[in-house]
Amino acid sequence: MLILAIETSCDDTCAAVLDNDRVLGNVISSQTNLYKEWGGVVPDIAKRAHQKRIGPVINRALKKAKKKIEDIEIIVVTQGPGLAPALGVGVNFAKELAIKYDKKLVAVNHIEGHILSNWVKNMYGKPTRKVEYPVLSLTVSGGHTKIILVNEIGNYEVVGETLDDAGGEALDKAAKLLGLGYPGGPVMEILAKKGNSQYLDLPKPLADKKILDYSFSGLKTSFYYKIKNWPREKVNKHLADLAASFQNAVFETLLRKYKLAIEKYQPKTLLAAGGVMANQELRKRLQKLAREEKLPILMPVKKWLNTDNAAMIGVAGYFKAMRGEFVVNIEKLDRDPRLQI
Ligand code: KG4
Ligand code: ZN
Repeated sequence: MLILAIETSCDDTCAAVLDNDRVLGNVISSQTNLYKEWGGVVPDIAKRAHQKRIGPVINRALKKAKKKIEDIEIIVVTQGPGLAPALGVGVNFAKELAIKYDKKLVAVNHIEGHILSNWVKNMYGKPTRKVEYPVLSLTVSGGHTKIILVNEIGNYEVVGETLDDAGGEALDKAAKLLGLGYPGGPVMEILAKKGNSQYLDLPKPLADKKILDYSFSGLKTSFYYKIKNWPREKVNKHLADLAASFQNAVFETLLRKYKLAIEKYQPKTLLAAGGVMANQELRKRLQKLAREEKLPILMPVKKWLNTDNAAMIGVAGYFKAMRGEFVVNIEKLDRDPRLQI
């Protein structure tokens, strides 16, 4: 089944062409250079950029796949969660295409897309996965941080989530405080490699309680107050130590709650996904945890599969289409910025 997938939930304009779960063409047009001076995504700028780019990005994905829009059987689009103005561009474009070319439409949850980034195959059908359920997934990006029990594909139970900032958002905000631009995660990763992660003593949010939820805003506030009165030269001299300390506090928090959830839910497989999983240090820590728990762990095999992309949305759409979950009234489909999984 030939699929065209569209993803515009945040600051990447993405399209992909798939044959079932195999990616034939994938295009990501990143807007991050538009937000460097803002320290975060500006919804109206994102909307205009998506509007300008979505058509050309889809055409490039079709061209890469050596297909025409007429060849496509199903259109898949991210319905939410995400930034409302950004989501609207993708949803409207997908609806117009589906109506104009008389295609079936599938609406996908962005977080399900991140989870299923671990099922994305290349055009040769690699990698193949044999997955034992239940799977316990940890998805961490700029917009969400959730521990989700996957009983099977399409059957999800959120067992823990952030009560305030997302993990990636915390890294982005700390980077902004340090004057490092947006997005903060990748710069913090590079700096942290050369720093002392024990340099700054930071709190462990919701540490001793047996709850599985996260909270990152206290961490960010504590970081702010600790360095608030420092002269700029001192901050600059210790940039690597500060990045390493903050990153370590975020990752320790992520792992502590995930470990608690593993003990409680006894999954057969672990899974990590979302933009922050592009971080090598976090991947190493998760692999270590998996070894200790004697469980296999799935993580996206390519760096671009961690951050936003339409290939993962296409695969989520493929599974939904296999279950017959198509949009019944295409004209009535609306973006849903707070869509729950
Ligand atoms: O999944 P994603 O592309 O978009 C959302 O759905 O939010 O995730 C973006 C987030 C940003 O917060 C960014 O700073 C973070 O992922 N990120 C990283 C790295 N690459 C991206 N965080 C840590 N280390 C990285 N290498
Ligand atoms: Zn995302």
